[in-house]
Amino acid sequence: MNTTTTDPAATASTTPAAGSMSLDDAILASFMPESRHNPYPAYDVLREAGPFVPGPFNLQIVSRYGEADAILQDSGWSHAQEPEFLHPKSDGTDLPASFLWMEPPDHTRLRRLVSKAFTARGLESLRGRVKEVATEVVDSVIKAGEVDVVEELAYPLPLTMIAEMIGVPREDHDSVRAMSAGIARGLDPDTLLTDEELQSRYDGAAHFRDYFERLVAERRAHPKDDLITALAQVEAEGDRLTTGEMIATLTVLLVAGHETTVNLLANGVLSLTRNPDQFEVLKRDPDLALAAVDELMRYDGPSHATTRMAVRDMEISGHAFKEGDGVLILLAAANRDSRVYENPNRLDLTRYARSKTIPRHLGFGVGLHYCIGAPLVRLEMECMLRELARRAPVMTLLADPPPYRPNIVVRGIAELPVRFEAPAA
Ligand code: HEM
Repeated sequence: MNTTTTDPAATASTTPAAGSMSLDDAILASFMPESRHNPYPAYDVLREAGPFVPGPFNLQIVSRYGEADAILQDSGWSHAQEPEFLHPKSDGTDLPASFLWMEPPDHTRLRRLVSKAFTARGLESLRGRVKEVATEVVDSVIKAGEVDVVEELAYPLPLTMIAEMIGVPREDHDSVRAMSAGIARGLDPDTLLTDEELQSRYDGAAHFRDYFERLVAERRAHPKDDLITALAQVEAEGDRLTTGEMIATLTVLLVAGHETTVNLLANGVLSLTRNPDQFEVLKRDPDLALAAVDELMRYDGPSHATTRMAVRDMEISGHAFKEGDGVLILLAAANRDSRVYENPNRLDLTRYARSKTIPRHLGFGVGLHYCIGAPLVRLEMECMLRELARRAPVMTLLADPPPYRPNIVVRGIAELPVRFEAPAA
C-alpha cells in the first residue's frame, strides 16, 4: 500500500497526457503491462489517428465506436476463423472451443441450450439470493474495515452465483476459482504470454475437463436442479450436444461467469471512490443502480479487446480489407468515443437514466457473440450498488493507482486496498 488519496486526478498524473503521446507510444501504451492502470489517454490518441491504425500481429486497431459497432454486427467478420495464436489450440491439450469461437449453425445450437437460464426474466427468481450474498459481502467488508476489495468484495458474489447456477458444490469454489485465473490470463494473444502463462491455461483446461467429467457422471446418477444436470440430460437424449461441447460450455460459463464480473465490481468501487460526487448521487437515489451499471461498464468496463477476421474482401471507412485480414477491436476505447458520448471521460451515473437514446456501450460486445451473461452481470452489479448505496460506507482508497493484472482482453485490478467505515450516525 502506498499513497492515500481520493483525488480522481491522481491516476492521470501517472500516465502521459494524450497530447504528449506519439502514435507509436500510444500503440505500445495500449498493450503494455505498465500502462494497464490507465490506457485511456493512449486510446484517445488511437481514436484521433483514424478509424484503423496498423497494430501488433498484423492486426488493424479499431478504436472508434462506429467501426467497432459495424464490424461486430457484420457477418463478413468471424471470431471462429482467426489464426491459432488468437485462439485455444484445437488438438485437445488446450481450452475446449466453446460457442464463443463458433459460427452458426453450431453457435446457434449450443448458445440456445443455455440461453434460457440467463434471460433477465429467468434470473429474477435469483434476485433474492443475489441480494442475500451482496448484503453478506458488504456487511463483512464494513466489519473488517480495511480490505482488499478484489478479494473480499468482488470475488464472492459472482463466483457464488455462477457456481450455484452451474451446480459446483460449495467446497469446490476455491479450486475452480484457481483453475479459472490461468485461463483468464490466457485469453490474451498467445504471443504475449510467457511459457508459464500458456502452461497455466493448458493446466486450467485439463483440470476443468477432469472436474466436469466427474461432476457430469455424478449428476447423471443423482440429478439436481442445475445447469450440469440440464446439459447432461440433453447430451443423453441424442445428437444435440457432444460430451466435449458440454465440457466446453460449462467451462466458458464458469470462467466468463465470474472473472469478468469480479473486475467490473472492483473497477466500480474504484470509480466511486475516485468520484465521490457520483457515489453521493447513487446514495440519494439508489433506484439509479441499474442505469449506473451501464455507465460503469461504459466508463471502465473490464472487457477491453476482441478480435475478428475478414471472411471476404470489403471496404470500410475508406480502408480495403482482404479476406484473412484481422482487426483488434478496442471496446473500451470505443466506449469513450466523443463522436458518440458527450464528455466521454466523465463518469456520470445518471447518463443512461436521463435518456433512452444514448447509444449502448460495447462492453458486452454486440451482434452474434453479445454476452450471454449480461443480464446476470446487471442483476449482480445492481444489487451490489443498491447495498453500497443503502449502507453508505465511507470508502477510502489506500493505493491509487492500484496494481493491475497484465491482462489485455479482460483488464482487471490485482489488488484494491480500501478502508470501509460505517457512516457517522
Ligand atoms: C462484467 C462482466 C462481463 C463482461 C464485461 C463480459 C463481456 C463479454 C463480451 C465483450 C463478449 C463478446 C466477446 C466478443 O464478441 O468477442 C462476451 C461474450 C460472452 N460472455 Fe460475457 N461478459 C461478462 C460476464 C459474463 C458472465 C457473467 C457470463 C456467464 C454467465 C458470460 C458469458 C459469456 C459467453 C458464454 C460469451 C460468448 C457469447 C457468444 O459467443 O454467443 N459473460 N462477454
